[in-house]
Amino acid sequence: MKDLDYETLDEDARGILRQNDRGGFTIPTSGLYPFQWNWDSVFAAWGFSTFDLPRAWAEIEALFEGQLPSGMVPHIIFRKDDSDYFPGPGVWGCDLGAFSSSGITQPPVAATFIRKLYEQDPALGRPILETLVPKLYAWHQWFMDWRCSDDGAIFVTHPWESGRDNSPDWDSSMAALEPGDVGPYTRRDTSHVDPSMRPTKAEYDRYLYLVQRGRKLGWDDAAMAEAPEFQVAEPGISFILLRANRDLAALCDAVGRDASDVNAWTARIETGCKTLWNDEIGGYDAVNLLTGARSGALSSVAFLCWYAGMPDARMQAPLTRVLSDVAFPVPSLVPQDARFDSLRYWRGPTWGFVNSMIGLGLAESGLTSEAETLRQRTAEVIRKGGFAEYFDPITGAPAGGDSFTWTAAIWLAWVRAGSEG
Ligand code: DGY
Repeated sequence: MKDLDYETLDEDARGILRQNDRGGFTIPTSGLYPFQWNWDSVFAAWGFSTFDLPRAWAEIEALFEGQLPSGMVPHIIFRKDDSDYFPGPGVWGCDLGAFSSSGITQPPVAATFIRKLYEQDPALGRPILETLVPKLYAWHQWFMDWRCSDDGAIFVTHPWESGRDNSPDWDSSMAALEPGDVGPYTRRDTSHVDPSMRPTKAEYDRYLYLVQRGRKLGWDDAAMAEAPEFQVAEPGISFILLRANRDLAALCDAVGRDASDVNAWTARIETGCKTLWNDEIGGYDAVNLLTGARSGALSSVAFLCWYAGMPDARMQAPLTRVLSDVAFPVPSLVPQDARFDSLRYWRGPTWGFVNSMIGLGLAESGLTSEAETLRQRTAEVIRKGGFAEYFDPITGAPAGGDSFTWTAAIWLAWVRAGSEG
């Protein structure tokens, strides 16, 4: 393993952002993910903001060029096709916006990081904000219309919508799907990355089945909401939207727009997030809304309660446990869970960008020593393993794609922001 010094890593991180820049938008990594992904792009902007604020704003503006007329911002924007990726634009068949795109969204981190860009230089950001706030508002409104449960928790309609593709949070919903014959297809991800670090074939059949279903329904929100086959309320997207909504209210204030609707959404989602608490695991977990089954999985996104502005003393014990028992926290699934798999994507590995959100929330809630521990352990795993997509939480081994945009971005914007190194 390497043990690189901070200045070399700073330069490497900036180099990765430049190298993954495709001319105004940034891909997560070449080969494995050759398009613009929604939350990856927002983290790219946060990284760019440490050395090129105008470029950071351009990233966000490019993302919103892909917004659909419904207000939804898709999880992938296919500006041009690339045969290195499956399923590409021809499989999704979603051409409702200015670019071909996927037909689902991703956790809405944008408002939170747009606020950070704006606060760095309000004079520069102000005119851009004037055009972005209505777009953010439309996206959040879309969430409230199409992804908010009766209880106020936010749900996903495809595992990819959560960004945590193979988390155990979807196991019961995935098992209930009957994909039948989805037709022949060739995965491309396993030609870029060791298959043991990726979702299984059974999972891919189901991912594809849900894509085919959406395509048949013309990606029409109302049609897809009838007789849904996959609906899981989950803490990641719920906490992220809750936080983003608070930031959207502040952005509305900044441009003189009334925020009363946004504040009402905040209250509703906050109520919903409370329903995701599960006494049996002593943490927040996902609920299959079609059956009421709980996932029983304590994953890293449960630790976003502080980031969401919902400090919860009950989460202190699990936090102390992951910080003391796991060498490179925070694991995407706690190692005590029988489903833990240290290298398989969202069933165990540690993701630096999730750590950055957890760390921001801890620091804002006054848990400064925990925030600092997390920041230092994230620094250590990157110094040893480089800018990998994710890391084995036990050994720190790098995993998934390399030269990864969001790992480089959070190195610059979060790990280094409070560092003496
Ligand atoms: C993939 O292709 O692995 C992505 O996670 C889908 O967004």
